[in-house]
Amino acid sequence: MKTKVGVVFGGLSVEHEVSVISALQAIKAMDENKYEAIPLYISKKNEWYTGESLTDIEEYKELNDLLQKSEKVILTTNDEGKVVVQKKNVGFFGKKAVTEIDVVFPVIHGTNGEDGSLQGMLEMLQIPYVGCDVFSSAVGMDKVMMKQILNDSGVPIVDYNWFYSTYWLNNQDEIKAETNKIGYPVIVKPANLGSSVGISKAYNDEELEEAINEAIEYSHKIVVEKMIGDLTEVNCSVVGDYEEVESSVLEEVLSSEDILTYEDKYQGGGKGGDASKGMESTNRVIPAEIPEDQTQEVQKLAEQTFKVLGCNGVSRIDFLIDKESQKAYVNEINTIPGSLSFYLWEPTGKDFTQLTDQLLQLALKRQREREKLNFSIDSNLFSLQSGGSKGKLNG
Ligand SMILES: Nc1ncnc2c1ncn2[C@@H]1O[C@H](COP(=O)(O)OP(=O)(O)O)[C@@H](O)[C@H]1O
Ligand SMILES: [Mg+2]
Repeated sequence: MKTKVGVVFGGLSVEHEVSVISALQAIKAMDENKYEAIPLYISKKNEWYTGESLTDIEEYKELNDLLQKSEKVILTTNDEGKVVVQKKNVGFFGKKAVTEIDVVFPVIHGTNGEDGSLQGMLEMLQIPYVGCDVFSSAVGMDKVMMKQILNDSGVPIVDYNWFYSTYWLNNQDEIKAETNKIGYPVIVKPANLGSSVGISKAYNDEELEEAINEAIEYSHKIVVEKMIGDLTEVNCSVVGDYEEVESSVLEEVLSSEDILTYEDKYQGGGKGGDASKGMESTNRVIPAEIPEDQTQEVQKLAEQTFKVLGCNGVSRIDFLIDKESQKAYVNEINTIPGSLSFYLWEPTGKDFTQLTDQLLQLALKRQREREKLNFSIDSNLFSLQSGGSKGKLNG
């Protein structure tokens, strides 16, 4: 019997469209002999839908028609404890279940999908799912948490400072002094967004103030980090889990502006790109044209980052290389990378079908391992002699 894969995509995120493109690519890539893909589209109104039409990219041009043709559903468990996709609105005698699913493949970028919240929902349903768990997803979305863990593990990151927006409002002089210690120019970022939203450069105290005032519109947590002036950006994809990892070839990301913008990434930046290709359309060179020993160093750091953060499945780790010092720093991790980075695996002989297979197998492996762990101890505190409700529980 085929494994039924619920592919979750769309969602309440600025990267909604990118998610649709990546998910449909993944569905197409899945081995039909082994897997049956069930599309689970989350609309911008946060409603879940399934249906055949959702697998056709053309249908998304007329979104209202598409949703009309599709079935509004929820994920829940049936009496046997199996996870089912169930119709949301059924009459009294209506048939509720659409299908059972065995494993979930989240292909949602950004908030509510990549940040651990969807993963938390799947944990509660006790269904295996592809990719990072709650903890590593959440850490991957918070630039401060990520930097703290990487720093603690000796992974090189650029000099930085962070604070809450309310702290900035009351302690501007102190934050300016701290920034002068790092040294201008700096980059100011909201801690938990993606797609370069709210990010700007500052060359002096005045610009710092402007940049921070913009960033606090998007997040309560702000990062100020040393800007690398003469920069090479390379990305490396890692596949695996805590036991075994593999790193891909590197891509070098070229950009006209020095901050890669949302348009650069997803709208082709007017450089002849094609929005329907999502991340693929960014100007890139594969493999990155950097020395072999530096490539190996970056791959090693990417694998280390993946393991230290407890990742699973496929993640893309982005690097900043200072051309002057030739030092490589980890910039960030994308736990659900656009296009799932399949184009970084093809050159190594792993096609998209093999990649999706590996990701699904890793999800099932994690579930098998979890089932061996004890999540409860077999005793009932209430059956112990307690001498009333205040007894033993209060020690
Ligand atoms: N410390 C830095 N020095 C120079 N450029 C940077 C630095 N940090 C970020 N950038 C530029 O800004 C872009 C977006 O920053 P990033 O941290 O990747 O945010 P996002 O999560 O929005 O992708 C990077 O791709 C890079 O071009
Ligand atoms: Mg980035």
